[in-house]
Amino acid sequence: MVLFLCSERKSMAEKILMIGSNGQIGTVLSKELRKKYGGDNVICSDIREPIKSADPFLIIDVLDKAKLQSIIHDHSITQIYHLAALLSAKGEQNPELTWKINMQGLLNVLDLSVQENVKKVFFPSSIAIYGPTTPKINTPQYASFQPTTIYGISKIAGEMWCEYYYKRYKLDVRSIRYPGVIGWQSLPEGGTTDYAVEIFHAALKSGHYDCFLAEHTALPMIYMDDAIRATLELMEANAESITVRTSYNLVGMSFTPGEIYSVIKNKIPNFTIQYKPDFRQKIAESWTESIDDSYARKDWGWKPNYDLDKMCEDMIAHLKQ
Ligand code: SER
Repeated sequence: MVLFLCSERKSMAEKILMIGSNGQIGTVLSKELRKKYGGDNVICSDIREPIKSADPFLIIDVLDKAKLQSIIHDHSITQIYHLAALLSAKGEQNPELTWKINMQGLLNVLDLSVQENVKKVFFPSSIAIYGPTTPKINTPQYASFQPTTIYGISKIAGEMWCEYYYKRYKLDVRSIRYPGVIGWQSLPEGGTTDYAVEIFHAALKSGHYDCFLAEHTALPMIYMDDAIRATLELMEANAESITVRTSYNLVGMSFTPGEIYSVIKNKIPNFTIQYKPDFRQKIAESWTESIDDSYARKDWGWKPNYDLDKMCEDMIAHLKQ
């Protein structure tokens, strides 16, 4: 009887919990979800208060399973977007902590989702799952993945756990392997692809950028608008059309620091750059250059709208404002 009432209540309206909502993607995705589902139906959460108020907001440490459970239960949560993680560059500074947050955090979310009858879970994976044994050009959906960073290891293990929960408990977990995400709305933190956002801010503020990657290192990227749209399209797709329960390959564009520099320089002629590769260069070199995302295209109609030129134009226009 209780179960019946619970599922009846859950079918009436979606109630979404976002964990890690202060981050680069969460900041933007939470706004889109609120537009779609209504402000009160999207609860944002993070380990710190956000800079700009994001009501309703709760302080949640994903490692505090008891608190997480009571929030999921008390708010009758139907969907969880679990975005809390330490990224590739920052993760290397504290591998143990990164493993704990990225792995135990996900296991808490998966386990509580089954216990509390959550209908859908979103888990972000990453291009960081690729490694030296992965084909570098047009990386296929299924290949050899032997990542070199603890972040990448936690994401590939996370993908496997998601598939396991889907197969064993029928938990509807969906996931995207995000490339580097570029947007004007928020700043990334602790990643190897962060240069592609920093470069715009530097171009407009000081007219010079010291790039921590080498000139010819190509990486897969995506514009924020496309990344958010992809996430929503995947989460709204019919469950039967989702054939990948680990995580979908996805890409918007691929470019090198040298290529993005020359597009920006066309628009800001005095802009200068110096290449000063640091430890992140090695991480970038272990990833791939371009990606085959045909599974996402076939299963749920994925198609990016932004290429390098269009993205640079939109970034600069917004940041100038
Ligand atoms: N943007 C991430 C990073 O650079 C990759 O998913 O770590």
